Amino acid sequence: MQVIAITSRKGGVGKSTLAMHLSVLAAQADRPALLLDIDPQRSLTWWHQIRGPDEPKLIEADARELPELVEAARREGFGRIIIDTPPHAEDSILGAMRAADLVLVPTRPGPLDLAAVASTLDLAKRIGKAPLAVLNHCPARTGSAEPSIVAEARAALIEMGATVAATALANRVAMSHAILTGSTVNEHEPDGKAAAEVAALWQEVEAALSAEGKAR
Ligand SMILES: Nc1ncnc2c1ncn2[C@@H]1O[C@H](COP(=O)(O)OP(=O)(O)OP(=O)(O)O)[C@@H](O)[C@H]1O
Ligand SMILES: [Mg+2]
Repeated sequence: MQVIAITSRKGGVGKSTLAMHLSVLAAQADRPALLLDIDPQRSLTWWHQIRGPDEPKLIEADARELPELVEAARREGFGRIIIDTPPHAEDSILGAMRAADLVLVPTRPGPLDLAAVASTLDLAKRIGKAPLAVLNHCPARTGSAEPSIVAEARAALIEMGATVAATALANRVAMSHAILTGSTVNEHEPDGKAAAEVAALWQEVEAALSAEGKAR
């Protein structure tokens, strides 16, 4: 079983949005995915209630329950767990990072966002995890080159010692439409640009998980 924690001390960067989207792609034919919502805001739970009984299963929890819940999920045959975490609450963020095989750190590409993301990257490194930064809320590409703000943000993150996902997620209205109907862009608008970006990101996450598994 593989555990992904989505963390950032900064609010509104897309943690819950990524948790929803990746959890739907994370389900395997014989091994379902599980979402753990440890954010008292319960954004993920809100989406899940609109979604109804469809996969993935979701459990609302407190960070202190994570070790026990992860063990139970392993016994029950879940293939992947995705943990959505609160901003600001350092203990919860650390608890999720400790439980994780892979730590994702979404960030906006702006200069103040990047200044703030350093402390989340440091938290992960402090406990021996190599986080994967994900640029979200980016301006969409207009040609083959990345918009300059995205390229600059990528360079700044690399300078901080972070690994950065090659896929940057653009700010897209389809994301809001999908979330409002309890779905994901890959379900709601599978041929759209947002769906293609999320699918490309998931491929990178899967590759990072399998590289991490081999290193262990
Ligand atoms: N790529 C995107 N395109 C358009 N809207 C997005 C995108 N990513 C996130 N959003 C929207 O931005 C808002 C913040 O995203 P989200 O709630 O996922 O962030 P968060 O990091 O979980 O916030 P919090 O720290 O409050 O838990 C939401 O309304 C979400 O729908
Ligand atoms: Mg959230």
